Amino acid sequence: MDKLIQHYADMYYNHDNPEISDAEYDALVRNFRTDHPDADLPIGQPSSLFSKVKHETPMLSLDNVFDFDELRGFFSDSGFVCEMKIDGLAISLIYEDGVFVRGATRGNGHIGEDVTENLLCLDSLPKRLKNAPAGRVEVRGEVLMTFERFNRLNQGQTFANPRNAAAGTLRQKNSAIVKERGLDILLYYLVDAPKFGVRTQKEALRWLAEHGLPTQEAFSFCPTLQDAEDFISSWSTKKLSLPYATDGVVIKLDDLTRWESIGATSHAPRWAVAFKYPPEERESRLVKIELSVGRTGILTPVAVFDPVLLAGTVVQRASLHNADEIERKDIRIGDVVLVRKAAEIIPEVVGVDKGARTGEERPFVMPEHCPVCGGAVVRVEGEAAHRCTNRSCPAQVREALKYFASRDGMDIRGLGASLAEKLNVKSVTDIYRMGLEDWLKLDKVKEKTAKNLMDQIEKSKSRPLENVINALGIPGVGKSVAGVLVERFKSIDALVKASEEEIGEIEGIGPVVARSVCEYLTENQELIDDLKELGITTCVSEAAGSEAVAGEAQNPFFAGKTFVFTGTLSSMTRDEAAARVKAHGGKVSSSISAKTDYLVAGDKAGSKLKKAESLGVKVLTEQEFLGA
Ligand code: IVH
Repeated sequence: MDKLIQHYADMYYNHDNPEISDAEYDALVRNFRTDHPDADLPIGQPSSLFSKVKHETPMLSLDNVFDFDELRGFFSDSGFVCEMKIDGLAISLIYEDGVFVRGATRGNGHIGEDVTENLLCLDSLPKRLKNAPAGRVEVRGEVLMTFERFNRLNQGQTFANPRNAAAGTLRQKNSAIVKERGLDILLYYLVDAPKFGVRTQKEALRWLAEHGLPTQEAFSFCPTLQDAEDFISSWSTKKLSLPYATDGVVIKLDDLTRWESIGATSHAPRWAVAFKYPPEERESRLVKIELSVGRTGILTPVAVFDPVLLAGTVVQRASLHNADEIERKDIRIGDVVLVRKAAEIIPEVVGVDKGARTGEERPFVMPEHCPVCGGAVVRVEGEAAHRCTNRSCPAQVREALKYFASRDGMDIRGLGASLAEKLNVKSVTDIYRMGLEDWLKLDKVKEKTAKNLMDQIEKSKSRPLENVINALGIPGVGKSVAGVLVERFKSIDALVKASEEEIGEIEGIGPVVARSVCEYLTENQELIDDLKELGITTCVSEAAGSEAVAGEAQNPFFAGKTFVFTGTLSSMTRDEAAARVKAHGGKVSSSISAKTDYLVAGDKAGSKLKKAESLGVKVLTEQEFLGA
C-alpha cells in the first residue's frame, strides 16, 4: 500500500481531518491503481471510543469513474437507478419488529462503531417504522450535516467541510452536542431486499419511503447508459441547489437479482459505481495578496479575488501557500486567475490566464517585516515558508491561544476565535492571571460569561499531560505525538532533559519532529516555567496516567471490569475518570449493555441510567467511584 495514500486516508477516515482535497486524493488513488489494479485501498478503522459492532453483510465502498468513457467500460447490463452520492458518513440501522435498536458506522467495513445513542438524537431518524415489518430489518444510508447547519456551526472554521462536521459530531461522546448541532439522515439501501418482496432498487427506495425512512428526492430510473449520462449532466448544476453536499452520482443496476449474480470485489460492488464530477473552475480577478500570520509565525499569502460562485458558495479567498508557489504559478496582482473548488473543499488558484495580461500586473514580493507587528521576516533554510521572528507578535499569540484553548488542548470552553481576537496577551499563559475586571473590560463580556470563563480556565489546569503538550502547538506535534511523548517521558521536565537523538528514536517520532520539540523547548523555557508556577499539569498524575500505576498490583475492583459513565462528574473530566479505570486494568465503554459491570452516574444522568437499571447493571455515585 502506498504510504502517502495511507496517511491521507487515515487523516480523512480516522481523524476527520483531511489534509488534501477529495479531488487530489482521487487523483493519487487513480495513479496508484494504474500500476496496482488489485491492491486494496485504505479504509477507516473503528475507534475505541465506541463499542464495536460486526456487520453481518459487509459495508462496501464504491469504485469511482471520472468520465463517460470509464462509465461505459464499467457496465455491460442496462436498466439503472441514478442517485446523488451524498457526502456524509455511511451508517447501518437495525430495526427489530419495527423498533430502532442499533445504529453503527461503517468502520473498516466489517467492524463498525455502535453510535446508537447519538443516532437517537437525530430528528429525521424514525425510532419506529411505519407499517412495521416483523423481525429484523437492516437499512443503510448516510448521516449528513446540511449546509445551513454547517455554516451556523462552523463560524470558528473547526471543520473543513460538512462531511467532517457530520463525522466529528456523530462520534461525539456527549449526545447533547449531537442534538444541538443537528444531523440528518438519508437512506438508500435495504439489506436483503428480496426477503421483503422487493426486486429492484427503485422498489427498494419506495419501500424505504413507505416505511417512514427519509430518502433523497434526486433519483431517477434510467433505462440506458445514455439516460444515466443525461441524469449526470443535468445534476451537475442542479446539485448546487440541494441543501446538502454531494460528491457525484451513484449509478446502480436496478435489477436486484443481477446484484447477486455479478457480486463484488473485496472492497466494492460490481453492480454500482460512483461518477465523480470534475472540480468546478471559474475565472476571477486577483485583487490583492494578503498575508496571514499563523501560530508558529509562518506568513501564508492569501489570494483575494473578485467573488465567484463555486460549488454552491461564494468564494473570494484562497491560500497561495508560500512565495515559491506564487513564483511557480507566476501569479501577479491584477491577473485573471482560474479558481477551483471541488464540492465543498477548500478553494485553490489553479493558474493564471497570461494572455489576458495588460502589463499593469504587479509581482508579489514577500515583505521583510511582519505586516502585523513589524518584526523581522526570515526564510528558514530548507523550508518554503517565511516566518515572523517576533515570538510576541500579537497575531501569533492570538493564533497560538486559539489552539491552546481548543478541545484537544486545554479545552477551555467559551474561549474560541472571537474572544481570542479581543484579547491582548503576550503569552498564552497570561489568561491564567486575568482577574474578573480584566475580562469585563472586553467588548460584550458580561459578568456571567466572565465567571464561567475563569472557572473553565481554572479547570483547564488539570488537563492530562498530553493535552497540555498538544496545546503548546509545537510544530509537528499533535495529540497523538503528544501521547507518545507522555508515555515515554511522563513529565515535561524529563522531556526537556531528553536529547534530540533520544526523542528521535521513539517509534512514531522522526528526526524532524525531534528537532522541532527540542528547539521549541529551548526557546520557550519561560513558558514552561510559567506552566509549573501556575499549577498546570506538567507530569503524569495518579488519576490521569495509565503508566503511573504500572508495576503496581492492579486494583481488583477495576481489573477486567467494564465501566460506562453518564452525566457530569464534578471532580474530574470523563477522560480523567476513564484513565483511572484503564490505569487499574478496567475497560471503558460508551454504551450500556448486559456486559457492563458498572455505570458511574454523575449529575443529570439521563437515559443510560434508566437503561442500566432495566438491565440490572450496578450504578455507582461519583463518590463511590472515587472511593473504589
Ligand atoms: S450505494 C455497497 N448510494 O459512498 C455500497 N452509496 O464512496 C453501496 N454513498 O460507502 C453504496 N451516497 O457511504 C450508495 N446514493 C448512494 C450513496 C452512497 C453516498 C456513500 C456510501 C459509500 C460511499 C462510497
